Amino acid sequence: MATREIPVEEVRIADRELWSDGPPLEEFRRLRGACPVHWSTGMSDYPEEPGFWSVLNQEFIHTVSRDWQTFSSEVGGMLANPAKFFPVEVQNGMFIGMDPPKHDRIKALFQRGFTPKRTAEHEDTIREIACRVLDGIADRETVDLVNDVAQPIVARVIGSFMGIDEEDDVVWARLMFALVSADDPNVNPEGPATVMERDLPEIVARCQKLIAERRAEPRDDLTSVLVNAEIDGEKLTEHEIVMGFILLMTAGNDSTKATYSSGMRAIIENPDQRQLLLDDPSLIPDAVEEALRMFPAFAHFRRTATKDTELGGCPIKKGDKVVMWYPSSGRDEAVYEDPDRFDVTRKPEHQAFGAGGRHFCLGTALARLELRVMIEETLKRYPDMEIAGEPKMAQAIFINQLTTLPVRLRP
Ligand code: HEM
Repeated sequence: MATREIPVEEVRIADRELWSDGPPLEEFRRLRGACPVHWSTGMSDYPEEPGFWSVLNQEFIHTVSRDWQTFSSEVGGMLANPAKFFPVEVQNGMFIGMDPPKHDRIKALFQRGFTPKRTAEHEDTIREIACRVLDGIADRETVDLVNDVAQPIVARVIGSFMGIDEEDDVVWARLMFALVSADDPNVNPEGPATVMERDLPEIVARCQKLIAERRAEPRDDLTSVLVNAEIDGEKLTEHEIVMGFILLMTAGNDSTKATYSSGMRAIIENPDQRQLLLDDPSLIPDAVEEALRMFPAFAHFRRTATKDTELGGCPIKKGDKVVMWYPSSGRDEAVYEDPDRFDVTRKPEHQAFGAGGRHFCLGTALARLELRVMIEETLKRYPDMEIAGEPKMAQAIFINQLTTLPVRLRP
């Protein structure tokens, strides 16, 4: 790869050319070794953008995640790409794009519903959804694990939490994927602006309709929680309800789909590891953690420095963009032995759900449960499935996911 010859100071880690087959793991490895807090001078897609800091190892991602006063989620938005397509004011309507105290108050509304205990109550429903989808493909020779299996399962699970009718799952899944992969030229050849002009209004209109229905008649779903939420005696604004809905839908859809697909690919490509899981399915939760470590569904989240500071000996100026790269921290050789080896007995701690702090993922228990059930039911039915075509990765610096994984169910 051409960049291998260029000095690390000149690597521009978010340049699309490096991401054609998923995260640039080799570049990440070089940067981690040389300067785990690294300055990129710009981005090839957005020449007008200033440079940004990359945080590449676990230690420093931990520091940034925990210090919201210095590293804000609210000031500049949560993405490395410029906010021109997804303006910061719009992002600020989601609690992932807010700082305390408002962030904490809105998050607290949902936390009770997402505890491991409350989440476990949904296991039977999740299993029933997974079995239905996996049984539905039984007479096919080949399927696409991403779109024929993962997508319908995760869409129905989060759809049932949000109160969406099942017949609308397909359209919601399409809209949510368009949003998170707006800058992937293979998915959205017309470019991110079109997605924001065409798809975002449709999302908002559908969401407003659902909100109006729940206002008139609340149900036992998360949309009703959003509609009725009160912070210091005041209801959320319409914008905050819409954006809260979009946050839960995107976080719940694409993340779990991505981890299941990449995890299944690793299981198929490592027959010894697959055999361990078939012999002892109680290892499947550990395989889930290993998949989260190696293939974190979100490649980054971003913060903005609120004051001049220093990290890993680097001078960070007020207003600088600071990007935490999870695919890099998941391969941190200071933490993991042989980090590129998929090892279902490793039981890793990882940062795929964030590194603690205020924005730690709300959906960890749900994601872990879904992933365990999906892998259990897949391996039970199709223990020797094999890859039947070229797996393709999204070409985007935010989502780390396969867009297709063709498999033969019974070789
Ligand atoms: C494999 C699955 C998942 C992964 C890898 C994942 C990853 C993450 C990460 C890295 C963050 C932290 C962002 C930051 O530090 O700025 C986050 C936040 C969040 N996640 Fe997840 N997530 C997953 C599943 C889910 C699910 C199923 C839900 C449920 C609806 C969910 C809801 C959220 C929410 C609401 C936040 C924002 C939390 C806050 O700002 O306080 N996630 N997630």
